[in-house]
Amino acid sequence: MLSIAIFLLLQTINTAAEERLQAFFKTEHNSVLFDETPISEERSDSLISCSRRCTRDKRCMSANFIKSDKTCFLLDKTRATHPERLLKQANVIHLEKVNSGLGSIQQLAAPSCQSLPSAIHPSGIYWVDPDGGSHDNAFKVYCEMKTDGGGWTLVWSYKFTNYEPFWTSANAVTPRPSWSALNGVNVPVSTTPPMNETDYNAIDFQLWREFGKEILIKSNINNWLVCSPDTGSLVEWQDGNVICKIVKRVNEMCPDGPTYRF
Ligand SMILES: *[C@@H]1O[C@H](CO)[C@@H](O)[C@H](O)[C@H]1NC(C)=O
Repeated sequence: MLSIAIFLLLQTINTAAEERLQAFFKTEHNSVLFDETPISEERSDSLISCSRRCTRDKRCMSANFIKSDKTCFLLDKTRATHPERLLKQANVIHLEKVNSGLGSIQQLAAPSCQSLPSAIHPSGIYWVDPDGGSHDNAFKVYCEMKTDGGGWTLVWSYKFTNYEPFWTSANAVTPRPSWSALNGVNVPVSTTPPMNETDYNAIDFQLWREFGKEILIKSNINNWLVCSPDTGSLVEWQDGNVICKIVKRVNEMCPDGPTYRF
């Protein structure tokens, strides 16, 4: 009689580079994913240490743990990609990295921050690959997973060149994204994804539309807004109105502002 038990393991590992790696595994008892070319074959004391090896190895997508001789085979295949290879075998546990590790490594790049289930993904840095296909062009972004349901990609973080004379032409936001600007706008252009809210950078403006059309604007001087396109759209670079709602009030002097037009 084949008994199947499925549970989830969460692994959080600090590698030498102090990059926080995390992966969930689904385990299936008395099952093996047949693979004549495993990434590695190593002795492993337990299922946990086998899963830990797989968490550390960016190529590893699943593993077979042979209980009798405590051997851990790391594989770059999965039952999803090779369903015909999943066989019943006593005393073997098959482990598979599942979606919950989404965005934690380049091979598990998520399509967007929005595709990460916010309940188990805190705000932080994740791998994303908005154009899909090969993950070779995946890159890291900061996902804001808390405000208004979460799933926001941090596309731009800026400060002011000269905050004190706020209304004079001596003041500008810096850096600016790679959108067209009038001659004479003399601040650096950034195409480097910001890694947190105080890393003043911008994702290449051409990529913004791939993350969505709604915009969350956070500020420490104005109320926070979520804006959707109407006749206008920021990501489509189209003049007109956008529809905004306040999602957090931080400014008591202008409780109903600001209103935005792009
Ligand atoms: C923000 O990100 C930058 C660039 O990766 C890093 O140098 C800085 O330490 C980070 N700051 C915080 C508060 O995490």
